[in-house]
Amino acid sequence: DAAVNQLGYLPGAAKWAVLPAAAGGEFRVVRAGSDSVVLRGATGPARRWAMSGTEVRLVDLSALTAPGDYELRADGQAPVRLRVAPDAYAALTAGVLKAFYFNRASISLDARHAGPWARPAGHPDTEVLVHASAASAQRPEGTRLSAPKGWYDAGDYNKYIVNSSITVYTLLAAYEQFPALFKAQHLNIPESGNALPDVLDEVLWNLDWMLAMQDPADGGVYNKLTNLGFDGNVMPHQAVGPRYVVAKGTAAALDFAAVMAHASRVFKPFDAQRPGLSARLRDAAVAAWQWARANPRVVFKNPPDVRTGEYGDDKLDDEFAWAAAELFLTTGDAAYRDALKLEAQPIRVPNWGDVLGLAWMSLAQHRDQLAKADAELVTRRVGDFGRQLAATWQGSAYRLTMESANDFVWGSNSQALNQALMLIQAYRLGGERAQLDAAQSVLDYVLGRNPLGMSYVTGFGQRSPLHPHHRPSEADGVDAPVPGFLVGGPNPGQQDQPHCPVRYASKLPALSYIDHGCSYAANEVAINWNAPLVYVSAAIQALTPP
Ligand code: G3I
Repeated sequence: DAAVNQLGYLPGAAKWAVLPAAAGGEFRVVRAGSDSVVLRGATGPARRWAMSGTEVRLVDLSALTAPGDYELRADGQAPVRLRVAPDAYAALTAGVLKAFYFNRASISLDARHAGPWARPAGHPDTEVLVHASAASAQRPEGTRLSAPKGWYDAGDYNKYIVNSSITVYTLLAAYEQFPALFKAQHLNIPESGNALPDVLDEVLWNLDWMLAMQDPADGGVYNKLTNLGFDGNVMPHQAVGPRYVVAKGTAAALDFAAVMAHASRVFKPFDAQRPGLSARLRDAAVAAWQWARANPRVVFKNPPDVRTGEYGDDKLDDEFAWAAAELFLTTGDAAYRDALKLEAQPIRVPNWGDVLGLAWMSLAQHRDQLAKADAELVTRRVGDFGRQLAATWQGSAYRLTMESANDFVWGSNSQALNQALMLIQAYRLGGERAQLDAAQSVLDYVLGRNPLGMSYVTGFGQRSPLHPHHRPSEADGVDAPVPGFLVGGPNPGQQDQPHCPVRYASKLPALSYIDHGCSYAANEVAINWNAPLVYVSAAIQALTPP
């Protein structure tokens, strides 16, 4: 049947749907519940999409601009619901941000804010042990320290600095670029109604934890706060194994420096509400940067007795560049501009292990603080990158930027959304409509315009994951999964086999997915996957012309 964005489309948006080739050359759109045709036209030619191995036809519904509920019909196809609404993504943006609240450590979720997903507090993290790998003169092995709060990383209950960093950055960037939208948003979290926008309150929950992960003696940053091994399917308060801070590292220090420098700027206008916070964040950033300069190649590997997520990364040039860019924008100190080596930096789609794109993104946002030649370079490079992604989209049988098997990694949905994030940076610079439309197509893809007809966000859309790899969703006794979580999505790597007793139906990139709690390689949730969905959903809402 037709694959569409199951949450609908904004009136002024590009609206693509995909039909199986067998649907033939013609489509009709009727008002829901009637036979009155409001739009009819020709479908695109049948083309094979290599990512799914299927023959498809594109349908351009962009002419459908009047808000309302419709049905898309084509020969031999079941009618598919189609919605056009000016607030199509408002609940999504809020719901996907609210998911961070649901993943908070060290706090009970009460029924007023969490509804049926209320639960007792887990992981106070006030008596965390210094692991042998993290021991120092001031903090020998076994020393206890306090590092409460933060978000659980994903379906597991551990907290990782590298992955927290790109996540916090992406959420703060969303606020920084679209403040009006977030200032008007009410998330119903415990802090709602205080002097800060809810998104900043939510981010502070994690920033407070991150600050506690820095060793005040030397500015170094521990990689993670973790159990030795993953827990079973239990609720947070039932997972009571000892917790450790594990090894300092260069990637953790630099990601921390970048995000603290960025946060220092974003929280600056709130100095009256949080006296001293902005300066404290900046000082933490500088201390972490100095540690990294003195320890430029401390690559993290799990010690033999630690078996939780690694987020290991041995390419550190991008982390150095990102931290330098953020510190330059925050302090104005030319030494950071020199350390950045901007002309030599490539531009790529960001992910937890490759943060260079985030440097370009911040520089683009703050072109007015750059020397003229640098500002021109940023505009040209970000624009070119956006045009390149838009060209891929234009040529795609599925109208999607995900055109390479390499895009379908563990967490492929976040790869798609981070492509959209880069497209949006380019669109904001030059206003080239194809870039916005290509980003819209990514949002459509994760919300149902895909060969599995799945909205990959729990609780959103007509068909969404029911069994995410997320311990609370599996253990809470509530039928519906905790809402607002994007799952990782199709991943032909299938690294959860044979541990997961359920088999994948296909190895084709865009089809390699199972909705099963055992599938940590395709159906887990993660904070760094939700964050770009918050960003893209907000951006599309804020930028699409009426
Ligand atoms: O870097 C290599 C690359 O050189 C190679 O070409 C490619 C081919 O497969 O693999 C690349 O390594 C991949 C690595 O991510 C970096 O992208 C691995 O195959 C892949 O298995 C690895 O996946 C990561 C996974 O943890 C396993 O380490 C995911 O990106 C990462 O999102 C995921 O994160 C986990 C945390 O560890 C624990 N918490 C849950 C979270 C989500 O599943």
